[in-house]
Order: sequence, then structure tokens, then C-alpha cells
Amino acid sequence: MNILITGAAGYIGSHVLKVLLEQSSHEICVIDNLSKGNINAINELKKIRNFEFFNVSLEDDLNEIFAKHKFDAIIHFAAFIEVFESTQDPLKYYLNNTANVAKILTYCKIYGVNRFIFSSTAAVYGEPDTPEVSEESQTIPINPYGYSKLMSEQVIKDYATSNKEFRYAILRYFNVAGADPDGLIGQNYPNATHLIKVAVQTILGKREKMAIYGDDYATDDGTCVRDYIHVSDLATAHVSALNHINENQSEIFNVGYGRGFSVKEVVKMAKEVSGVDFKVDIANRRDGDPSVLISNASKIKTLTDWTPKFDDLKLIIKTALEWEKRL
Ligand SMILES: NC(=O)c1ccc[n+]([C@@H]2O[C@H](COP(=O)([O-])OP(=O)(O)OC[C@H]3O[C@@H](n4cnc5c(N)ncnc54)[C@H](O)[C@@H]3O)[C@@H](O)[C@H]2O)c1
Repeated sequence: MNILITGAAGYIGSHVLKVLLEQSSHEICVIDNLSKGNINAINELKKIRNFEFFNVSLEDDLNEIFAKHKFDAIIHFAAFIEVFESTQDPLKYYLNNTANVAKILTYCKIYGVNRFIFSSTAAVYGEPDTPEVSEESQTIPINPYGYSKLMSEQVIKDYATSNKEFRYAILRYFNVAGADPDGLIGQNYPNATHLIKVAVQTILGKREKMAIYGDDYATDDGTCVRDYIHVSDLATAHVSALNHINENQSEIFNVGYGRGFSVKEVVKMAKEVSGVDFKVDIANRRDGDPSVLISNASKIKTLTDWTPKFDDLKLIIKTALEWEKRL
């Protein structure tokens, strides 16, 4: 296949790019405007196998790239991802995350690209009533970021209804963490709010201390419980999803492990893995944090050949820590 990956200089896209370069013979082409992504990831990954990289934006005229490459599939990561920023500047999110999906699908229509893998998020579920959510659970996002992704999902579904040749997989990621076990790539943004990223930064003294937001939730130890998935397992889920829709119909898949760890459990494990007893404050709850959010991931596990290999909190933290040391 001839595959276009958007946003592959970023955290998740670069891990998917690595899997495809190592484990497939697909022709790969990447576009990324490097607004958040890192050129080092591109340069490192080119050492595995060469691919074409275009430093362009989704907003640019991409006709020449599409006309030249005749893509069979697109894996679309490029988007903004900060929930708080989306509440301060929602239009930025609707333009980049939602309007640009309509734009890239317009290229699909013009150039006959009929396979599409989309990065969605558990944020589409908002604050669910049940701790475990399936793909059928209600979707009521509580911030513009979540809505920008849910609206994109609708755009994709509507386009698929109008074009019987077109098939999509929408992947709703849970809490993505960790880094490439080979140490080649990882998460780069310094101001990340992801718990494990913050914990390893604190271990290394890049932050003086970290906070636990709320310890009075209705969970065993009072802190929020989340489904942390290793980014390399998330990466292979994209390949399994692409293979699946090639032979079958379009699907929405939750991608998590279907189990959870509390914030306190993560902090304890981070201290254990590193041997560093870093400072942790208990702060007020943040708005919109559900007490428990765990994926029911049985659909992707039964319908596709996805076999996670890194479902191990210790390993997730270890790889994140090793990567953070390299930054
Ligand atoms: N990281 C998570 O925990 C998480 C969870 C759920 C869903 N997602 C989704 O996964 C996708 C990838 O997330 P990530 O964590 O790798 O983010 P990231 O910021 O590391 O990667 C996004 C990449 O897209 C590029 N980009 C953004 N807008 C662009 C544009 N208009 N034109 C060209 N390039 C553009 C950025 O430069 C960056 O390299 C996003 O769609 C995000 O919404 C991420």
C-alpha cells in the first residue's frame, strides 16, 4: 500500500511510523508542519528505511503531493491536543482538528483515497456514568477538544455514507504513555500534562514537585483511575485496524487495555521504578475529571489481530523515564 501519515513527527504518529517502517513494506509518505512535532524523530526514523517527508501544513495546497503519490490510505494524527487550551481558544481546535478533517477528506474524494484511520480520544465520552465505556456508550464531551474530535468522527461517517468505496477506522485512545522501548523516539513536549510524563519529569528534577488533583473520589484510594496504554501497543493497533478495514467494514474501536490504575498507584510505581522519593502535593480536583475511565476494549481484541505486548505499568513508566533522560 501507499500510505500518507499526517502528524508523524509527533508523539503517537512517530511510533506508528516506526512500526510501519520496521514491520511492513508499505510505501510511506509523511506530512507535518513541525508546529509541535520534532524533526529529530523524522531523521532518526529515516535511518530504519527511507520515506518522503514534507514539511507542510494541512492548510497548504496538497494537490501536488496527492497527485504524485496516489495514496491508498491515510493515517491522520495531525491535530492540537491540549484540553485546557481548547477551552481558551476553541476556534483554533475546530479549525485544525475538525475543519481540516473535512479538508483532507476532500483530497480523499478527489484522488480516490478510500482507507482512513483517524485518531480520536476517550474525551468524546466526557464524564460517563459507568467506569467502563464501550464504543456504544454515550458520547457527551465536556470540552471543545473532545467536541472537535467527536465532530470529526461525524464528518468521517457522513462522508463514508456518501461513498461506498470509502472505509474508516476511528480509534478512541485512552491514556497514552511510555516511549519506544528501543529509545529512538518518545514524547517531546515539555509542558505536557500527562500524569506519567509529569512524574518522570519530577523524578529527574525537571519539576520541583507534582500534584495529585483530588484524593476524595469514590475509588479505593480516593484518586482517579485511568486506563494507561503503552504508545507502542497503540501503534500496532493502527496497523491491525488498517488491515481489518481493508477486508471488512468501517469500525470505531476503543484502544486501551481494559484495566485501570489510580493516580496514587502510578506515583508509587514511579517512585519504585526510579528509586526517587519525589515531592507530591494533594491539590483540588480539576473540572471534568471523571473518577474512573476504563476502556472496554473487547471489540478491537476480538475483531482484529491486535495483540498488545506492553501491558505492564512498570515498563510503561520505565520507557517514559529512559526517554525523558535522553531529552
Ligand atoms: N497524546 C494523547 O494522549 C492522545 C490521546 C487521545 C488522542 N490523541 C490524538 O492523537 C493524535 C496525535 O497526538 P500526539 O500526542 O502525537 O500529538 P503531537 O502534538 O505530538 O502530534 C501532532 C503532530 O501533528 C502536527 N500538526 C498539528 N497540526 C498540523 C497541521 N495543521 N498541519 C501539519 N501538521 C500538523 C504537529 O506538528 C505534531 O507533530 C492527535 O490527533 C490527538 O488528538 C492523543
